[in-house]
Amino acid sequence: MLYSDKVMDHFLHPRNVGIIEDADGVGEVGNAVCGDIMKIYLKIDDGVVSDVKFHTFGCGSAIASSSMATEMIKGQRVEEALALSNKAVEEALEGLPSQKLHCSVLAEEAVKSAIENYYEKNGLAPTADAVPVEAAQ
Ligand code: FES
Repeated sequence: MLYSDKVMDHFLHPRNVGIIEDADGVGEVGNAVCGDIMKIYLKIDDGVVSDVKFHTFGCGSAIASSSMATEMIKGQRVEEALALSNKAVEEALEGLPSQKLHCSVLAEEAVKSAIENYYEKNGLAPTADAVPVEAAQ
């Protein structure tokens, strides 16, 4: 079987699909090669990701990766969510075929992009590469 049960589950029943109208951070990323696009919306309260939604126009692995990523960061502190790696997403999905690893990279990038947007909006840090809020204090 090419795809794990976890991947199939999150592909067929993606969690947290949708839009947050008054999002505190929005990130949109795409992969130029496959053309897939992922958009993530964050609601942040007291430095914690209180809600997260996504829309992914892409392959099944990208949908599963973004679904899993949103589940993983929900309830986390922003700096924890910023540290989410594609490897962690892939492991939580119990593996992805090697030609589909970039789909999990897209999920990591979408989360980082949304947090970067949150930082920019709040003047907390210029980019997602900047020192995380906690360390900067
Ligand atoms: Fe490109 Fe999955 S094939 S994100």
